[in-house]
Amino acid sequence: YAALHLSPRPVVIISPESLGEGASSAWAQGGIAAAMDTADSAQSHAADTVKAGDGTVDPKIADLVTQEARAHILNLTALGTPFDRTENGDYVMSREAAHSFARVVRVKGDQAGSEIMASLIERVRETPSIQVLEATMALDLEVSDGRVIGVAIESANGQRSAPVMLRGSAVLLAGGGSGGLYALTTNPPRIRGQVIGLAARAGAEIVDAEFVQFHPTAMDVGEDPAPLATEALRGEGAILTNDQGERFMQAIHPDAELAPRDIVARAIFAQSQAGRRPMLDTRDVLGEAVKTQFPAVAEACARNGIDPALEPIPVAAAAHYHMGGIATDAEGRASLGNLWVCGEAASTGLHGANRLASNGLLEALVFARICSVGIAAAVPATSAALIKIAFEDGGTPSDPEAIAELRQVMTANVGVVRDAAGLESALRKIAALEAANKSSVSFLNMTATATLITASALAREESRGAHCRSDFPDTLPGDTRRSRLTLNDAIIIRTKICEATR
Ligand code: SIN
Repeated sequence: YAALHLSPRPVVIISPESLGEGASSAWAQGGIAAAMDTADSAQSHAADTVKAGDGTVDPKIADLVTQEARAHILNLTALGTPFDRTENGDYVMSREAAHSFARVVRVKGDQAGSEIMASLIERVRETPSIQVLEATMALDLEVSDGRVIGVAIESANGQRSAPVMLRGSAVLLAGGGSGGLYALTTNPPRIRGQVIGLAARAGAEIVDAEFVQFHPTAMDVGEDPAPLATEALRGEGAILTNDQGERFMQAIHPDAELAPRDIVARAIFAQSQAGRRPMLDTRDVLGEAVKTQFPAVAEACARNGIDPALEPIPVAAAAHYHMGGIATDAEGRASLGNLWVCGEAASTGLHGANRLASNGLLEALVFARICSVGIAAAVPATSAALIKIAFEDGGTPSDPEAIAELRQVMTANVGVVRDAAGLESALRKIAALEAANKSSVSFLNMTATATLITASALAREESRGAHCRSDFPDTLPGDTRRSRLTLNDAIIIRTKICEATR
């Protein structure tokens, strides 16, 4: 989206897989939150965003993003996204948790992410100023005098490759989050905090790292990643029960299944911990219609031998979205010069401690455009020759066993409910894994982000939004600070913990 806005300025896109594959955006089921109904308003959307974020949303950013939402939906429509429409031609709106209005625009039920990506990718492919380097992965940023001047990339097609440095006049990290650092996640397999990690290793400031959102209804069917059962199902009236047939959300929150996502995720987690299998029951409200109205959910059910018209879907809370990330200002600029960030890797201040459903794609769109405006103003409009890369043998790929261990540590100790002992143990294990895998830069990007999440979670001695400390269960009144750390700060915390137990 940013590259299209920058056209005809030459842009190179680095993408580990075929463009759009392996990207969380393409997996988004819910849609995009936007006040499209005349009875709704951007102010109401902003107020819901601030409320869900539990005290740490930047209200100016919430106003900015929600006011721009409508224009981006119209722009995506013009670019070819086939949003669902009513007979009158209005956008069909879904209801999701903690929204005071049905304001999530959707495509073919649960296909919003893949359809939006398909229309953008089609435009990108026909734009001559954009070169897409597929099967390449960003590893490192080159920094000179506090300004980013290059990106080191490696081959992402499985071959060992020595890094190649690409130099350009501006760098935009339009990257994913950190869900895949957890053993139980809804994120595509390659999304493991590498983008945040590479910026942190270059010295960029990271904000709100402890705020990781867990989705309450990942399907508990033994797949990695876990398929999502969209919150829009609960918006339609689907209920949560356990294997004893108990509907447990009504006793926990007046909005029951549509309580804020962090509350539902903790309730699901508590059920799982107690050995009572939590399940999402769509039978009464949707029956057979679930198969046509929610094709991605139906397909995942079919793959796993579940007929959602006849039986409830087993679910678990899984790492889904990182509210924290690379600190950016209202223009999408990071703390390093010449570096812009948008998408989940950024932390703009929109989401606070708990992202409101379907605000993720919206923020990505709004800040992609804002970043493109800033980049266009900062760099000369020149032309550029196509880049040709022949990777040479070299480099050290990440060890799959080390990744698996890191993911287990994060789920066990830095998950839905945390405490000091677990977080300290995680920091020691992350340090040990990092020491044993020093030569793999891609792994260092993962341990950098894991260290930042864990150190920030240890430093925040309260519970707020998605960050729940069993040893500090209260929310500190009036303490609405956002946590800001560089990787060096986080490593100091980690080293102290490691030395204390020697
Ligand atoms: C969902 O469809 O439940 C996920 C939407 C989101 O995470 O914004």
